[in-house]
Amino acid sequence: SPVVDGMVTYKSPSNIALIKYWGKKENQVPANPSISFTLDSCATTTSLKYTKLDVPSEDFSFELFFGGKPKPDFKPKIQTFLTRVAPYLPFLKSYHFVIETSNSFPHSSGIASSASGMSALALCLMHIEKQLNPDMEVAFFNTKASFLARLGSGSASRSIKGPLMQWGQHQNTEGSSDFYAIEYPYKVHQVFEGFQDTILLVDKGQKQVSSTVGHNLMHNHPFAERRFEQAHDNLTELQKVLADGDLTNFVKIVESEALTLHAMMMSSLPYFMLMKPNTLQIINKIWEFRATSKLHICFTLDAGANVHVLYPASEKELILQFIKDELVAYCENQQYICDQIGDGAVAF
Ligand code: PMV
Repeated sequence: SPVVDGMVTYKSPSNIALIKYWGKKENQVPANPSISFTLDSCATTTSLKYTKLDVPSEDFSFELFFGGKPKPDFKPKIQTFLTRVAPYLPFLKSYHFVIETSNSFPHSSGIASSASGMSALALCLMHIEKQLNPDMEVAFFNTKASFLARLGSGSASRSIKGPLMQWGQHQNTEGSSDFYAIEYPYKVHQVFEGFQDTILLVDKGQKQVSSTVGHNLMHNHPFAERRFEQAHDNLTELQKVLADGDLTNFVKIVESEALTLHAMMMSSLPYFMLMKPNTLQIINKIWEFRATSKLHICFTLDAGANVHVLYPASEKELILQFIKDELVAYCENQQYICDQIGDGAVAF
C-alpha cells in the first residue's frame, strides 16, 4: 500500500445532550435515541503520527502522550478502543502510532472528555483509511468516523459534526441509526443559532462512577423500559420545538431530561448520586431567576455535578451577568467555561 509514514491532527469538540443517552445494549448500541448540541471551545486536539512497520505486529503498537507527558493509565482505554475498531480498520497492526492529545478542559470533570477524545482519535484513524482509499466520499468519511467514535464512547459519535447531532434509531427521524450519529436533518429555528452553554465547574474531581458502570445499571433497572419510551417521546416533542423555536417547551424538555438522567442513577442498584449541594443551589437560583426575569435560561447535566447553563444568544448579556453575580460563587475555585454551539471537528 502507498501510505508509509505521516502525521494528522484533529481538533474535536465535546457535546452536550439535550435528550440523554443512558443505557446500552451489546456493541455500544444505545437503548434510546439522543440528540446534542455540539460545543465549540471545549475540545480535544489529537495528533497521530503513523509509521509503517516492516512486519505487522502481534498486538497494537502505540505510545500515548497527554499534554506532552507519557500517559500509561490511559493506555487500556485506547487498547480497548483499537480492539473494537480493528475489524473495520484492517491496517491497524501494520503501523506504529504515536498519539499526542490535549484537552481544553479538565478530563473526567463531567464535561465529556471521552466524547471529544474518542472522536478526535477516530477522525485521525479515518485519515489513514482515506489515504488507503482515496476515492472515499466526505459523507462516508464522516459517517464512518462517527461509527468508530461510537465504539470508543457512545456520546463520541455525536462530536464529528454540528451544531445538532442525533444518534439512535427514532421513528420520526429519517436516516437515524443506532450505529452512528447524523446531522439533525430538519430545519432548525433561528433562535437556536449561537445558543450559549456556560459550564459551571461545581466539582472538578474524578467522577465517582464511570459511564460504563452507569449504563450497565440500566440493565434490570425497574424503570428502564418506561424511560427508553420517554426518550423517544421527548425527542419527538423536541423536534417540534426545534422547528418552531418554542423556548418555553425547550426549557421543560431539557431540564426534565437532565433530572430524569439523575433520577435513573438514584433509582438503580447500586444507587448513586452525582449532584452536589452546589448543583442544587445553582438549579434553584436558575429557577428563581427565570420566574422573575422571564428570560429563557435553563440547565442540563451530564453524569456529574457540573451544570451546563443553556440560553439563547439574544439574552446573553443579561444572563451572563446573572451567572457571574449569582452562580459562579457555587463553582469550585469560581471556575466556569463560556461555550456555545459549534460546527464539529476540524483537521489541521
Ligand atoms: O458516551 P458515554 O458512554 O460516556 O455516555 C455519556 C452519557 C451522558 O453523557 C450522561 C448522556 C449523553 O447522552 O451524553
